[in-house]
Amino acid sequence: MPAYSPGFRSLDAEHEDLSLAVEGEIPSWLSGSLVRNGPGKFEVGGERVEHWFDGLAMLHKFRFVDGEVRYSNRFLRTDTYRRAVEDGTVSSQFATSGSYLDQLKSFLRDPTDNANVGVATVGGEYVALTETPRRVRFDPETLSSRGDLEYDDDLTGHHVTAHLRHDDRRGETVGYMTEFGRRNRYHVYRVPDERPERESDSGRVSDSESDLDPRRIPVASVEVDRPAYIHSFALTPRFAIIVEPPYVVNPLRFLLPGGGGFIDNYEWRPERGTRFLVFDRSSGELVVEPTTAPFFFFHTVNAFEEGESEASDESVVVDLVAYDDATIVDDLFMSAVEGEEGAEPSLDAAEGVLTRFRVPLGGRREGDERGESSEVTRESLYRGIELPRVAPAAHMRPYRYAFGQATGRDGQNGLAKVDVETGDSWEWWAEGHFAGEPIFVPEPAFSEDESEKGEAKEDRGVVLAPALNVEAERTVLVVLDGETFSEVARVRVPHHIPFGFHGEFFPEVTS
Ligand SMILES: [Fe+2]
Repeated sequence: MPAYSPGFRSLDAEHEDLSLAVEGEIPSWLSGSLVRNGPGKFEVGGERVEHWFDGLAMLHKFRFVDGEVRYSNRFLRTDTYRRAVEDGTVSSQFATSGSYLDQLKSFLRDPTDNANVGVATVGGEYVALTETPRRVRFDPETLSSRGDLEYDDDLTGHHVTAHLRHDDRRGETVGYMTEFGRRNRYHVYRVPDERPERESDSGRVSDSESDLDPRRIPVASVEVDRPAYIHSFALTPRFAIIVEPPYVVNPLRFLLPGGGGFIDNYEWRPERGTRFLVFDRSSGELVVEPTTAPFFFFHTVNAFEEGESEASDESVVVDLVAYDDATIVDDLFMSAVEGEEGAEPSLDAAEGVLTRFRVPLGGRREGDERGESSEVTRESLYRGIELPRVAPAAHMRPYRYAFGQATGRDGQNGLAKVDVETGDSWEWWAEGHFAGEPIFVPEPAFSEDESEKGEAKEDRGVVLAPALNVEAERTVLVVLDGETFSEVARVRVPHHIPFGFHGEFFPEVTS
């Protein structure tokens, strides 16, 4: 068995508000909860799921209060979970196929609710997310599941992003989804933070339970012949950018018997190149859509606008973790990571490169064909990174620092901080440890004066990341100083946590 196999081993224990041992010192200002999502169980009816992305969703919560840390974890009690645990039935998912009937149903009316990818707040609700339209609500205090989030609209999407982007200034969450059908379309939509209000005879009803369900408001739509597998997108104050790698599907394949799981239907078609679709968030106009040399990616890092609005040198900068092609998807099948069927087990997946793309918007008012007058430039910033994050205040602005999991060195994972302006980097490694997604939590501004002047340093705060000690088969949560990237504390979990995906820090969740 490979050294990291505890990362792909199921965790059955659930805890409630367990006090964790802390080595070092947690900053006293750190208050709130880190909620992380990921697969907790990899076997269904005695069979392993086929892909890391298909394990049953489990939430993990680290609550920080007065320098102490409390831990809770719970499986999401979803339909997929119930079918798996009670009936031993496999549901169709990312790469794991159920029966043919199940496969058909999963795309038409019964997509999986195994929301194991990330967490977010949408229209005031805490939800667990995956790439189907089903968002599973949970109670941030107890982590108990509260059923699907319903929307008060009739938008249709079959493949959706688990990476919603929140715009603090406009007070809305933005997302996109792909609709398969006779016409295939990408839709960009927004959900205002404020829930629509239900009027009663006596006027406004203040009880939030009486508010209407959140509403997705269409922002832009575009028709495509072959929809791509797109995992995340980018947002700037004025634009929403869908980056479309040439990893595409003919949706009719979903309906053929033997099509396997969702992702098995996609093909790498490098001759198509990778396209940047830049939408105006206010008008919905597709502003430019230049195509570059082909690359694949899962995660955008950040994006912002450059140059004067409407000027000829205006551009959007999109930072993302690029791969030469889509082999990374195959690299993460269980058979690859565990070395089944005689193959060498390997976590030596393709290496992601933090890459900056500059997409010119100028010339679009000169009657040129869209995209043809502009050349997208590309610059590599750091090699061997995944699960990238930035400080919340840096989102959609010119920024300095990206944080991520450092990958692919000596068969383990560390953490990295990259100065995207200078290319300088800082790294954290610990012998035998595999680190996950680092989340930056800003220290509240020292003084009002300082925050008013915008002088608060972007990296003043802490970075929180899980790290699995594969020999001890225990996970620790590491706390790094955001500026120096040195370890200030290590929080001990009494068991292993399987490798997970994404989390969020919710300062308001204090109980
Ligand atoms: Fe992701």
